[in-house]
Amino acid sequence: MVSTRRVEHQTGLFDSEVVEPHPRTITQLRKAAATCERCPLFENATQTVFGEGPADAPVVFVGEQPGDQEDLQGKPFVGPAGRMFDRALEEAGIDRKRVYVTNAVKHFKFEPRGKRRLHKKPNAYEIDRCRWWLDREITVIEPQLAVALGVTAARGLLSRAVTIARVRGDFIPLRDGVEAFVTVHPSSLLRAPDEAARAQEYAKFVHDMQLIARHVPAIRA
Ligand code: URA
Repeated sequence: MVSTRRVEHQTGLFDSEVVEPHPRTITQLRKAAATCERCPLFENATQTVFGEGPADAPVVFVGEQPGDQEDLQGKPFVGPAGRMFDRALEEAGIDRKRVYVTNAVKHFKFEPRGKRRLHKKPNAYEIDRCRWWLDREITVIEPQLAVALGVTAARGLLSRAVTIARVRGDFIPLRDGVEAFVTVHPSSLLRAPDEAARAQEYAKFVHDMQLIARHVPAIRA
């Protein structure tokens, strides 16, 4: 049984926080996260989008937050950014089925614009509140490497603000036996100003994926 207690937000709202016993498997974590109210983002999202992949994956990829498609389907990285991610993984010879894919923030944050829902970046408070889940995913999975895709993921993983250009490509000690690696978010590749810049940024991203595959050969296709 997972018990809860009422917790006051910085916002003055109350929500329930899972206290004990702590979920010990990914299945238990996913179930507990389904009713997460640790920050107000649960209010407008369709559902919690928890991580997916083997519970003993040697590499965990961390994105920012679910997008529109992910929110509807309940799965991480299945929309346009996911397709870009899949393409880069394939090109680098990484088998997505051998890695665990999750997000720093597990509810979709958006602004309604007519019939569309426009992605809004999670703030530091939301990232820090959602680290409760990310930390537990890493603890349960015990991967060799956790990869942050973009600044939000880097903050979630490293618990501090980082400048991607300063740390990109390094294997950084994170905690016992786990290293971190920081690169850009796949959707940033879609935003490059022209075709040449897009191709160059994409090649750099694939290069990062190749570094990761070389570092952890067990995820190779
Ligand atoms: N972008 C992310 O960061 N995560 C997803 O799951 C989808 C898009």
